[in-house]
Amino acid sequence: MKSKIWLSSPHMSGNELPYIQDAFDSNWVAPLGPNVNGFEKDLQAYIKEDRHVAALASGTSALHLSLILLDVKQGDEVICQSKTFSASANPIVYQGATPVFVDSERDTWNICPIQLEIAIKDRIEKGTKPKAIIAVHLYGMPYKVDEVNAVASKYNIAVIEDSAESLGSYYKGKNCGTFGDFSVLSFNGNKIITTSGGGALVTKTIELKEKAIFLATQARDNAPHYLHSQIGYNYRMSNIVAGIGRGQMTVLDSHVEKRRSNYKFYVESFKNNDKIVFLKEPENYISNRWLSCILLDTKETREGLRLALEQENIESRPLWKPMHQQPVFKKYPSYLNGVSDHLFEKGLCLPSGSNLTDQELERVITTVNNYFRTC
Ligand SMILES: Cc1ncc(COP(=O)(O)O)c(C=O)c1O
Repeated sequence: MKSKIWLSSPHMSGNELPYIQDAFDSNWVAPLGPNVNGFEKDLQAYIKEDRHVAALASGTSALHLSLILLDVKQGDEVICQSKTFSASANPIVYQGATPVFVDSERDTWNICPIQLEIAIKDRIEKGTKPKAIIAVHLYGMPYKVDEVNAVASKYNIAVIEDSAESLGSYYKGKNCGTFGDFSVLSFNGNKIITTSGGGALVTKTIELKEKAIFLATQARDNAPHYLHSQIGYNYRMSNIVAGIGRGQMTVLDSHVEKRRSNYKFYVESFKNNDKIVFLKEPENYISNRWLSCILLDTKETREGLRLALEQENIESRPLWKPMHQQPVFKKYPSYLNGVSDHLFEKGLCLPSGSNLTDQELERVITTVNNYFRTC
């Protein structure tokens, strides 16, 4: 059996170990400590805008806290991009609220501003104004920030920017992770940098960051005994995990560079294959190319290619199945234009890790070329 080529695997630099060692040496083995503060500062410095970062246990917990901070509760509706990973939508249901799914547009594969406005108008007509909009920079490609924000502010609805896949991407010169009323980062094992598991909430004010940390540490009121006047959560990042994050921050830019160069390599290698189409960056968009994605001419070609790669022990994955098609979310309202269904049928994510070797990339290219020679 040939060695496994993964879609996107963790890529440690070695710079993580001194921070972890330091946590052990100083006995900061807790969901607080100098690495947590340091990692938050590193992230704040990286995203540059005037924002505040709270390091948390996961991107999902950051999404959940942002909904709580926006007072989303039972009976509320929250709009969510349908073409995303389920973690974008799950916390809406944790809150007892109703997700309303909105389809994508073709330029970025992200939430369609036209469908978004249609959905908002219709929900208002039906009697419930949505409380928030969750927009996602999927696969690292920024969504149409100006257009989405224009609709959101026209109807005075908060935006939660799901930037789990897009740390290191830019829209009109500004970092993804700075465009929402709340923004969410993920450091899950497959992300552009990883802490094994972890996430962060980006807020516009220090007060909101403090409120998030309060909720993330069991909502303990200020008293010598344990005193609680609100429901709390155990969502804070540990000092050991944050140490991995500090080390990973030293290689974030090089990870982005490598993932972008994987994408360029695929584009160059398949330039004469008219059955393979790539998503180009619109002007003033820079994607971190977290995953290199292709569209094939038919669903059969996509599945045939996926199986051919699997035979060679190469992991690939269909573009995410939209939420409105998921058994668990089917019953909720959706506003569709066919784009995300089309992308799911014909799209495939290719191995994209920042630790892929030239030989591994060559193996992917050879397998794809062999498939097209024989199919
Ligand atoms: C788009 C998107 N949103 C949210 C998440 C949730 O992040 P986490 O796995 O850190 O909870 C992920 C990744 O897993 C994701 O890809």
